[in-house]
Amino acid sequence: MNRPASAKIIGTGMYVPERVMSNEDFAHIVETSDEWITQRTGMKERHLAELGQATSDLAVEACRQALDDAGVAPADVDLVICATITADNVLPATACWLQDRLGCTKAGAFDLTAACSGHIYALAQARAAILSGQARTVLVTSAEILSSITDYADRGTCVLFGDGAGAAVVQASDEPDTGILYTALYADGSGGAMMLLPAGGSRRPPSHDTVDQRLHYMQIRGREVFKFAVLKMEELIDECLHACHLTVDQVTMVVPHQVNTRIIDAATSRMGFPPEKVFLNIHKYGNTGGASVAMAHHEAIREGKIGPGDTAFLVAFGGGLTWAAAAIRH
Ligand code: ACO
Repeated sequence: MNRPASAKIIGTGMYVPERVMSNEDFAHIVETSDEWITQRTGMKERHLAELGQATSDLAVEACRQALDDAGVAPADVDLVICATITADNVLPATACWLQDRLGCTKAGAFDLTAACSGHIYALAQARAAILSGQARTVLVTSAEILSSITDYADRGTCVLFGDGAGAAVVQASDEPDTGILYTALYADGSGGAMMLLPAGGSRRPPSHDTVDQRLHYMQIRGREVFKFAVLKMEELIDECLHACHLTVDQVTMVVPHQVNTRIIDAATSRMGFPPEKVFLNIHKYGNTGGASVAMAHHEAIREGKIGPGDTAFLVAFGGGLTWAAAAIRH
């Protein structure tokens, strides 16, 4: 079997639900203000799904766009990977709903859980499957309806999250030194409680009691996450620079998890990246979990900020704790 020289992203897509919730809208439901949210997070608005809309409903649109962009027929996809923490159901995998709805008739399909690092974890699996000869074309989607696990009575978390989906088609290529050049994946489960959804799993199955105690919503220790995030984002960028033998000047764009502009600014400026080399769309979408990097990557390409031959670093961190990066030559 001939092993390919590289795994290339040949198409991307994204989708957000129509409903928009602005910072001002939050001021009507919790004690907050546009000023506080803007200054502390950089967020202005986010898109939220309607009741009854599921994660696969967003992902299917992003996937169709990515397949179109790549010029790949669904039947030619070998593997569908869906990164999400808000699967349509615990059983079956959201990737299986997608496989059927998209018509990926000969593909395997599975979900991957790495919270906000999910898209990069999924790209790493796609690259590994391609370089090992297991698959030629992999459809990766990262999609979340975080509004379904957000406590809208908690002002400390509810303003942070939005819903959305991103997708990328990764394909085998004979061209060397291109595509996904390098990936770094890390985890530290000792910090698992920092971002936690306490009930609904096997540890604490759903009951009237867990619902009464609002345990089906995310609990986040924001201040602790903040410090961890800045440190890990710096380490990841540094690792990508060293592993790929690149200088800051040779990197066109850093595409970070859209978590908080203060976190992103602190980490990227310390690593020597000027603001024009850091892609931000947090003001439009808030934090969309695993979908965030996927959507930002798609928009950076669509806006012409990343073009053929350019190198971009995708960096993310999230619940788990997990953190991950991918260096990509387009
Ligand atoms: N509006 C107004 N005031 C608020 C709000 C709000 N929405 N939320 C909190 N406050 C108050 C707090 O109660 C606190 O008041 P106090 O001083 O009287 O106690 C004050 O604002 C400051 O709170 P801090 O938590 O110290 O604010 P901070 O500057 O750290 O910003 C934030 C909070 C935005 C959450 C920040 O810590 C952060 O971005 N952390 C990391 C992000 C994060 O955890 N994201 C989720 C990751 S999980 C995932 O991505 C799926």
